[in-house]
Amino acid sequence: MPNKNNLLIITSALPYANGPLHFGHLLEHIQTDIWVRTNRALNKECIYICASDAHGTPIMLKAEEENIQPEKLIEEITEIQKKSLINFNIKHDNYYTTHSKENRVFSELIFNSADKKGLIIRKKIKQLYDDSKGLFLADRYVQGECPKCGAKDQYGDNCEVCGATYEATELLNPKSIFTGNKPSVKESEHLFFDVGSCSENLKKWISDTDLQSAVKNKIQEWFVDGLKPWDISRDAPYFGFKIPGYEDKYFYVWLDAPIGYIASLENYLKKKNINKDSRELWGEQSDTEIYHFIGKDIMNFHTLFWPCMLETAGFKKPTNVFIHGFMTLNGKKMSKSKKNFLLVDDYLQVLQPDFIRYYLASKLSSGVDDLDMDLNDFQKKVNTDLIGKFINIASRSQGFLKKDSNMLGEVLDNEIIDEFINEKDNIFNLFTAREYSKALKEIMLLADKANQYIDLNKPWELNKEEVNSIEVKKIASTAINLFRILNLYLEPVIPETSEKIKNYLKSNQSLDNLKNNLVNHQLEIFKPLLLRIEDSEIAKLAEISQNG
Ligand code: 2FM
Ligand code: ZN
Repeated sequence: MPNKNNLLIITSALPYANGPLHFGHLLEHIQTDIWVRTNRALNKECIYICASDAHGTPIMLKAEEENIQPEKLIEEITEIQKKSLINFNIKHDNYYTTHSKENRVFSELIFNSADKKGLIIRKKIKQLYDDSKGLFLADRYVQGECPKCGAKDQYGDNCEVCGATYEATELLNPKSIFTGNKPSVKESEHLFFDVGSCSENLKKWISDTDLQSAVKNKIQEWFVDGLKPWDISRDAPYFGFKIPGYEDKYFYVWLDAPIGYIASLENYLKKKNINKDSRELWGEQSDTEIYHFIGKDIMNFHTLFWPCMLETAGFKKPTNVFIHGFMTLNGKKMSKSKKNFLLVDDYLQVLQPDFIRYYLASKLSSGVDDLDMDLNDFQKKVNTDLIGKFINIASRSQGFLKKDSNMLGEVLDNEIIDEFINEKDNIFNLFTAREYSKALKEIMLLADKANQYIDLNKPWELNKEEVNSIEVKKIASTAINLFRILNLYLEPVIPETSEKIKNYLKSNQSLDNLKNNLVNHQLEIFKPLLLRIEDSEIAKLAEISQNG
């Protein structure tokens, strides 16, 4: 758990700048954003950084296809991504790009430090080359027959039929996916990062770090065969940073991508005129805590190569790397071609951000399990919990205050209010431990209790006789205060709705003011705070997802 006064640097993985964001990205950014908001509510100083991941062959090819410069493509896509995330109230302090001068400086610095320490190995390797396209073929750009079982149409790294792994040059009858031509085999020098020589430091970091147990187990497996040198260079043509001292070699995108975290921080500090440099904040000796949120597919880059790069150049290794599972849609893998796919912007044409924030949070735990977004379950969950339980507390109480111009009374049922306030630590410990699903369950149990409180006290019965008016006001005022408390608990998850509720309550409280009950306090005139998700809206989302 984070210490009290340290700065927290928190990141989500950098999305590739070759397309708009889909629901897989959204899951991760929502998970991170809730954690950042949680820590801020607990008065921790946080910097939440991200960027678009701008380099690599796919981006180069996409720019070619669109007949624009890659710089233009990444600029446009970075802007689109940034806007999409803002629309979901994901509050990065900086959304930058890895194609930046800061990132070039840090990438060269880390590379040069490694080179000086003798950690860069130069070695000639043989690769498949498409002569007519003029391109070295990465594994996914070549298909052929599996050298073990002979299965057709297998990619250059492993066979989906028999599970064998091999070199692309071992494929039988290989074909370039661009031209269908048989590639030639070309030799060229590549640069490798000697990850193996970091093994001891890595092992120490892994044992000192509170990584998820599934993650620790996976990493142990990689150590069994020893860590092989990691290929960090790509030959021209490529879109990226040239390697110092070479005219036709570039850093592999995965070298400069995580360095982009530091570059984005550096850019943020400059933009905000903060007189600290990122080397200091991210320095080995600093008290800063560094947390990366990532998906399980990029675990090796963040738990092996990245700590090793950081170590080499005197940067601090991550305090933790939080790994989540994949997201499926209606029980199936998300796939555009299989017509089961949702872009984040498409969702926003139909529904508001807090609904999906709530739903995904209600399914998230600290584990690495996959998470399914089932549209019908989504509708039911949001309508039952947010509207049927939470908002209902205010909707059914506010009417009893109308005849007194929406003024809350002076007397409250303090017992139940204290009971709610006492749940704060439990709930926020769960949020801090990324057990969002459990935290929301606790909050909904309290919402049930608030509704039971109203049911038991029957203000609608009491209200029939004027003599009960003080009691009726007490019940309604208590219920509104319970609603106020739950709103502060839900704020990291549904910030837009929480803001709306604060406007209704005419109160800008934060978690620090949890104990300050609203008494003798004028409320805004009540208007419905959230509307149920209709069947037609779910049908619309289903239609969009099936159009791929
Ligand atoms: O897998 C991906 O989508 C990468 N673009 C993530 C990069 S995260 C970081 F290392 F930059
Ligand atoms: Zn095979």
